[in-house]
Amino acid sequence: MIGSLVATAFWAMVPAYVPNNAAVLAGGGRPIDGGREWHGARLLGDGKTWRGTLVGTLVGVVLAIALNALNDPASAALGVDLPRFDYPAAFALAFGAMCGDIGASFLKRRSGRERGAAFPGVDQLDFVVGALALAFLVDPGWATDVFTLPVLAAVVVMTPVLHVATNVGAYALGLKNEPW
Ligand code: CTP
Ligand code: MG
Repeated sequence: MIGSLVATAFWAMVPAYVPNNAAVLAGGGRPIDGGREWHGARLLGDGKTWRGTLVGTLVGVVLAIALNALNDPASAALGVDLPRFDYPAAFALAFGAMCGDIGASFLKRRSGRERGAAFPGVDQLDFVVGALALAFLVDPGWATDVFTLPVLAAVVVMTPVLHVATNVGAYALGLKNEPW
C-alpha cells in the first residue's frame, strides 16, 4: 500500500524531478533576466539561463515519453498500475518544475540572497509546487486522476529527501557549487 503509493508518486514526478538536474549540466549562456536589476538586485540572476530552462524542459518531456514505453513491464514487475503521461502533462510537469525554480530565484533576489544562497524549504519544494500547479492548470483531468491526496502526501514527504540526496551527490561529484 505505502509501497505502491511511493512508486506511483515517484513515477509521476520523475519528469518534474530531473529537469532541474539537467539544467545544472546544461546551464550557461544568456541569463533569462538579461542582466536586468530590480530594486537594486538582479531580477533572477545568472543561475537562470535560457539554455538551462529549455534543455531541462526537453529532458523532462523525453523522460516522460520513455517512462510510457516502460510502463507495462514496470507496472507488471511492481504490481502497481503506474501512471501514463499525455503530452500536456509531460510538458506541464517539466516546464512547471523549471518555472517553480525560477520563481524561487526571484524570491531569493528580493530577499537579498545572492546567487547560490540556500533558502531552506523553498529550495526543496519550489519545483514541486511549480510542476503540480502547472499540471493541474494545463491538464486538470490527468492531474486529479494521478495526484490523489495520498499520492500528493507521498510526493511532499519524498521530495525533500530525494532533493537533498541528489544535490549532495551532485556537489560531491563537483557538478554543483553548493550542496543544496
Ligand atoms: N540553471 C540554468 N537555468 C535554470 C536553472 C538552473 O542554467 N533555469 C543552471 C545554472 O548554471 C545554475 C545551476 O543550474 O547555476 C544550478 O541551479 P540552481 O541551484 O537553481 O541555481 P543557482 O546558481 O544556485 O542560483 P539561485 O540562487 O538563483 O538558485
Ligand atoms: Mg542553487
